[in-house]
Amino acid sequence: MKKVLMMLAVVLAFTALNATISFAASGGSLFSSEGCIGCHTINGTGGSVGPDLSHEGGKRSLGWIKTQISDPASHFAPGSSDGSYAAIMPATSMSSGELNALASYIESLK
Ligand code: HEC
Repeated sequence: MKKVLMMLAVVLAFTALNATISFAASGGSLFSSEGCIGCHTINGTGGSVGPDLSHEGGKRSLGWIKTQISDPASHFAPGSSDGSYAAIMPATSMSSGELNALASYIESLK
């Protein structure tokens, strides 16, 4: 009986780990497929129209990042931001699952 429980615990732990890994990977791939990478750099790869997001998680909360993706104009007035960026970021509409995955990925960058 103890052996069976041990096996079950190992299987469960492995499943949880697997889910965490694929979650993180899909946020990273959304960063490319949603076009974010054209304007933002993460760890040396990407554009420079918007700010570098390599350490974004140390700067902003998960909720703030979600709002930034779905409604950037609520944070920055067009053309003003902090004066360093001429263009305002376009709003992106995606499913709430995708929004969660993408925002969680960006929030994990510290
Ligand atoms: C056309 C260029 C462009 C695209 C595409 C774009 N952004 Fe932006 N982003 C900007 C600019 C410019 C800013 C600076 C604020 C402003 O002026 O809107 C910004 C700001 C941000 C910020 C806030 C940075 C900070 O802490 O001040 C985050 C987070 C962000 N973008 C994430 C994303 C994600 C995720 C995507 C893809 C869904 C994306 N951006 C797509 C141009 C872009």
